[in-house]
Amino acid sequence: MKNLVRTSTMVIGLMLLLSALLYGCAQNTPAPTAEPAQAQPTATNPPPTQAPTATSAPTATTAPTPEPKLSGDPVRGGLLYDNWFAELGMPAPEGDHPLWKTQTSNTRSGPDTWRCKECHGWDYKGVDGAYGSGSHRTGFMGILQSASKPGWEVLASLQGSTNPDHDFSELMDEQDLTDLALFITDTLLDASELVNEDKTAKGEAAAGEDLYIQVCTHCHGPQGSAINFGSYDELEFVGALALDNPWEFIHKVRYGQAGWPMPSAIRNEWSSEDVAAVMAYAQTLSNEPMASFGGQLYDKWWTVVGGSAPNGDNPLWSTQTTNTRSGEDTWRCKECHGWDYKGVDGAYGSGSHRTGFKGILAASSMSAEEIIGALTGQKNPDHDFSEWLDEAALNELATFIQEEIADTASIINADKTIAGDPTQGEQKYINTCAYCHGDDGKKLNFGSSDEPEYIGTLALDNPWEFFHKVYFGQPGQPMPIGKAMGWTMEEIADLIAFAQTLPAE
Ligand code: HEC
Ligand code: HEC
Ligand code: HEC
Ligand code: HEC
Repeated sequence: MKNLVRTSTMVIGLMLLLSALLYGCAQNTPAPTAEPAQAQPTATNPPPTQAPTATSAPTATTAPTPEPKLSGDPVRGGLLYDNWFAELGMPAPEGDHPLWKTQTSNTRSGPDTWRCKECHGWDYKGVDGAYGSGSHRTGFMGILQSASKPGWEVLASLQGSTNPDHDFSELMDEQDLTDLALFITDTLLDASELVNEDKTAKGEAAAGEDLYIQVCTHCHGPQGSAINFGSYDELEFVGALALDNPWEFIHKVRYGQAGWPMPSAIRNEWSSEDVAAVMAYAQTLSNEPMASFGGQLYDKWWTVVGGSAPNGDNPLWSTQTTNTRSGEDTWRCKECHGWDYKGVDGAYGSGSHRTGFKGILAASSMSAEEIIGALTGQKNPDHDFSEWLDEAALNELATFIQEEIADTASIINADKTIAGDPTQGEQKYINTCAYCHGDDGKKLNFGSSDEPEYIGTLALDNPWEFFHKVYFGQPGQPMPIGKAMGWTMEEIADLIAFAQTLPAE
């Protein structure tokens, strides 16, 4: 019964989605149409459920067939194929997958070994495809040949019918496995239709540019550098991925990104040619950043470089007494120098964050050597971050201080009102932010359940922090970097002005 309910919920969901899509097309809106109806589940946001009604079951698909016909959501199956535990918002199983020990060439361990794609490949060809050599080689077979099998047979192979070690029924429920089977039988394609042997796309870059601007720009930015898939010292933007792993690119563009509300080309009814075209265009994008990662280091450097904050308080902390925080907070650059970069001369001049320490706006006239000197204790031995920040991180911070910080007084007034146009900001909010934060900004809670903090709350309480995070990005999260979206400070002011109109509680 539970599955029946879920299935019809799914079908209704798909129908709603379809009508949303048609409605979107009729309105001729350039914004991606798969949201918010798509509402893919994330760890924090379980999919909305609707009460199914007996009468709304579709009749077209229920023609009697000799075998039981599966029904479900193949696009969701594609996300599960990529990373089912991320998509389901649960931890990976302990240890290695039981079949892992039957191979020795792929030396990964733990969570990776449980991902379908790790054994069967992004091109679905296993040992006969891209994973036939290199560090991902396992020697396991592909699944492309399963696409022509009846759905129930594929489902059975996920329940251990061919090999008891290939039984996922304890880990996922039947609808999950059904969606996976439908992904294989209904949507798999042979990527060699879209990509040449040398990894270049068989598509029209010019047509792809239009599609990219309609959908992808809103999160990945005009040059593809608004979301970094790599680290601060090894950047990987969407263009580099398209060149390096076109099969992964194709999979993720068609199905979306597990755990994130990235639109799916299949849901948006793109053809394979459309996918090839957007890939051809993406392959022309450079891997040059439009913003340094210094702003995120300034926010919370250990999240950016990996690891945790040093133990105890920063040695400079004892030279002040007004700010009574301790531990981790005392190591954040922002805690001493402020979100407005003005230290004691700005918002942190009073209130619980007051330390009396100076700001860093004036430091923009220092040379890179002097800034790095200050950060490695050459001016004050207690202001020494060299144990944790490598040369690359120090350089990013120097770039941030010299070239990127600016006085926000031109957009944020002392009483926290904004010199910006909320109507302009609303369009940006809908195009980009609403995917993750929801139309009302309440989909993600930055506070606690007792003391919730939403987009609207933060925009009113701390517009300087809001500005910093939207302009430079959120440490450790693939949130688009406003500066790499090509936005000016004034455009961000518009966004904050709109965000201040959203519910604060
Ligand atoms: C640790 C590696 C590994 C993982 C993870 C894995 N598989 Fe497999 N899969 C195999 C191997 C090996 C076989 C061949 C099994 C056999 O029948 O002996 C196989 C067989 C299959 C088959 C049947 C192919 C055929 O033609 O008989 C399908 C379909 C399949 N896997 C899908 C999946 C899906 C979907 C997932 C993710 C939920 C997954 N696999 C996860 C290793 C893996
Ligand atoms: C709603 C915002 C959003 C939109 C619109 C969007 N993406 Fe994404 N994309 C993301 C997020 C978030 C990630 C996950 C990054 C991560 O996990 O670090 C991602 C990841 C990806 C990845 C996988 C990177 C990796 O290594 O895992 C590819 C490829 C990609 N996007 C391409 C595109 C293309 C092409 C488009 C347009 C068709 C697009 N995206 C539209 C948000 C978006
Ligand atoms: C615990 C508080 C504290 C933290 C954390 C902190 N600073 Fe400082 N910072 C200071 C103080 C105090 C000074 C003045 C030091 C001196 O010269 O005696 C200073 C000086 C500076 C200067 C030199 C300014 C000038 O005009 O000479 C720069 C640049 C700077 N900090 C940047 C940073 C960055 C970047 C971080 C994060 C990696 C950081 N600070 C973390 C307290 C802090
Ligand atoms: C791809 C998803 C995604 C998109 C798109 C996105 N964000 Fe975020 N945002 C996040 C995540 C995840 C967090 C971290 C939430 C947390 O820490 O609980 C976050 C955090 C924030 C924060 C900081 C909250 C805090 O107190 O730390 C602000 C401000 C914010 N987002 C504003 C925006 C605005 C404005 C936009 C549109 C320009 C936007 N975001 C677009 C995912 C996204």
